[in-house]
Amino acid sequence: MSEKAKIEIMDDGPLIVSDLNSLEDGEGNGLAIKKKVALCRCGASGNKPFCDGSHKGASFKSSLSPAESSAPGKEGDAVVRSLGDGPYEVCGDIELCVEDDSGLSGDDPYYLCRCGASENKPFCDGSHKRIGFTDK
Ligand code: FES
Repeated sequence: MSEKAKIEIMDDGPLIVSDLNSLEDGEGNGLAIKKKVALCRCGASGNKPFCDGSHKGASFKSSLSPAESSAPGKEGDAVVRSLGDGPYEVCGDIELCVEDDSGLSGDDPYYLCRCGASENKPFCDGSHKRIGFTDK
C-alpha cells in the first residue's frame, strides 16, 4: 500500500513533495519524480520546477501562519502540475502541511506560488503576472 501524498512547506525554502502519483508540466507531460522531491517556490531555481538551492542566494523569505486543517476529503490521484509561467496546481488526495506538521486547507484544486512574490504564501495570489515570472 502506498503512502498518502504530502506537500510539506519549508520555511524560507522549497516544497518537499512525497508519494505523488504524478508531476506534470503545464501541458500535462509527466516529469520524472522520485519518492520525495523538492520543488522551487522562490522562483530563482535554474532547474525549475525543481529546487536547486537558489533560495539561499536569493534571500527568499516566506511567512506562513499555520491554519487548522479543514481540507475536505479529497479523492483521486495526487497530481502536481507546474503551470507555464505560473503556480503549481495541486489536485487529488494530497496532504498540505508546514514544517511542524500543522495542516493547511485548500480547495481541490488549489494553487501554490512558485515565483516567490505572492503576498499570500504558500498560495498564489496572481503576483507572478505582475513580476513577469517565467519558467526559464
Ligand atoms: S506563482 Fe507566485 S503569485 Fe502566482
